[in-house]
Amino acid sequence: MKVYIKTYGCQMNERDSEALAGMLIRAGHEIAQTEEEADVLLFNTCSVREQAERKAIGKIGYMKKLKAHKPELIIGAIGCMAQRKGEELLRELPHLDFVLGTGQLHKLVETVEALRRQRKQLALTAESDDVLTEMGTHHTPAGSPGWHGQIAITRGCNRFCSYCIVPYVRGREISREQSDVVAEATALAAAGVKEIMLLGQNVAAYGLNGDTNPPPDDHSPFADLLEALNAVSGLLRIRFTSPYVSYFNRRLIEAMAKSTKICHNLHLPLQSGSDRILKAMNRQYTRESYLQKVADLKAAMPDITFSTDVIVGFPGETGEDFDQTREVMNFVNFDNAFIFKYSPRPGAKSASMSDDISQEVKEERNQILLADLKSRVEHNLDHLINTVQEVLVEGVSPRNAERFTGRTVHNRVVHFEPDATLQPGTLRQVKITRINAVSLFGELLPEQGR
Ligand code: 5AD
Ligand code: SF4
Repeated sequence: MKVYIKTYGCQMNERDSEALAGMLIRAGHEIAQTEEEADVLLFNTCSVREQAERKAIGKIGYMKKLKAHKPELIIGAIGCMAQRKGEELLRELPHLDFVLGTGQLHKLVETVEALRRQRKQLALTAESDDVLTEMGTHHTPAGSPGWHGQIAITRGCNRFCSYCIVPYVRGREISREQSDVVAEATALAAAGVKEIMLLGQNVAAYGLNGDTNPPPDDHSPFADLLEALNAVSGLLRIRFTSPYVSYFNRRLIEAMAKSTKICHNLHLPLQSGSDRILKAMNRQYTRESYLQKVADLKAAMPDITFSTDVIVGFPGETGEDFDQTREVMNFVNFDNAFIFKYSPRPGAKSASMSDDISQEVKEERNQILLADLKSRVEHNLDHLINTVQEVLVEGVSPRNAERFTGRTVHNRVVHFEPDATLQPGTLRQVKITRINAVSLFGELLPEQGR
C-alpha cells in the first residue's frame, strides 16, 4: 500500500512520523508523495494548542471528498489529538477509519493491514512502554538517514505544568536504556549521520524514573548519556530539546562543557518571567533561580546562546507580569524565541481558570516580544559580520538553488556559494559578510589542507 503521512506539531511528532515511515517500508509498503496517490492517509496530530487541533480536524474533514471518489481509502488520525479524543474523533469524523494514540503508534502496520482485510472503525489509545523502544528506526526517501538524525530518548512528561496537555496525551515519563540510545546513535553515525538531536518532552530528566525532584548536584543520568554519545565516533555535533531548567545541576553543566560535540546552544523554556505567573503555571522555578542557572551555564560555556518558549496572556497575567517576562528575555539575550498566545486546553489544570486576557492583549504582547526579539537578533548577528564561523553543511538552499546552507554550532543558518568539493554533512569555515533578518550570508573559505 502507498501511505501518505502529514505531520502537525513538534519535533517528537516528526520523529514519530519518520519512524513510522521506516516501519511501513520494512513491511513492504511505500511512502506516497501526494494525498491523491495514497491508499492510506495518516494524520499525525498535535494537541498543545487549540489551533493545532483545529487545523488537523479541518484537513481530515476535507479528505471526505477524496474518500467519496475512492471508497477503499483508509484514513487514520494518530498522535496527541488521537489520544485525547479517541472514539469521539471517530464520531466527529465518520469517514475516519482509525485512531491510534501516542502509546500505540508501534501498532500502525498491523492496524492498517487488519483494516485492509476487514473494514471497521477502530480506536486504540492504551498507554504502553513498548512504543519507546519500538520507534527507533530511521528512514529517508533516499533510503539513507542523511547527515542529521533525531533520537527520542524519553517520552511523556510528569511535570503537569498547569497549562499543558502533554502529560495527559503523552502519558507518564519513561526513558530508554542508555545502551539502546548509544546503539541507535552508533548505527546512525555508521550510516553517515553527523549530527544527532536528542528528543524528549522533558529531556534532561532522562533516566530519573519520572521523579519530578531534580537530582542532587553530583547526579545526572542525562549527563552520563551525553558523555557516552560524545564518544561515538563519526558524530560531529549533538543537540537536545527540550530541557527543563531545574535539571541543569553541576554534573550536567560540567558534562556539557567538557564534551566537545555538545552544541553550546540551549532551548530553555522560560514560559514567564513573573514569579506569580510561574507559580500559577506550576513551574518549579523562580525568575531568580532560572537566571542563576543561565549564569551557571554561561560561566561554564561563555559562548553559549539560548532560545526559549514563552506564553503570553496566561490567566491573570498583568501588564507588570508581562513586563517582567520582557525584562528576563532581554536580560538573557535569547537568540530565538517561540512565543505562544495562551490557549486553554480541556483537562489541563489551568482550564478551570478564567481565560481573562483578551485576544487583542495577547496579540499586542505577542507583537511586543516579537519586535524585541527582532532587534536583539539584529544586534547579535551584526557582531558576527567579518567573523569566521564553522558550519555543518546541510545542502542546497531551499530558496536559491545556486546557494548552499549550513548551520553554526549556535544554530544560525548561513547561506553561501558552494565550491566543487562541497559535501553535505561536512564541517566548513565560512566568513560572514552580511546579515538578513535571522540569516547569515558569507563566503566559503577553502578547505584546510588544500
Ligand atoms: N497555550 C499556549 N502555549 C502552550 N504551550 C504549551 N501549552 C500551551 C497552551 N495551553 C507552549 C509552551 C511549550 C510549547 C511547546 O508550547 O510554551 O513550551
Ligand atoms: Fe508540558 Fe511542562 Fe511537561 Fe513541558 S515540562 S511537556 S510544558 S507539562
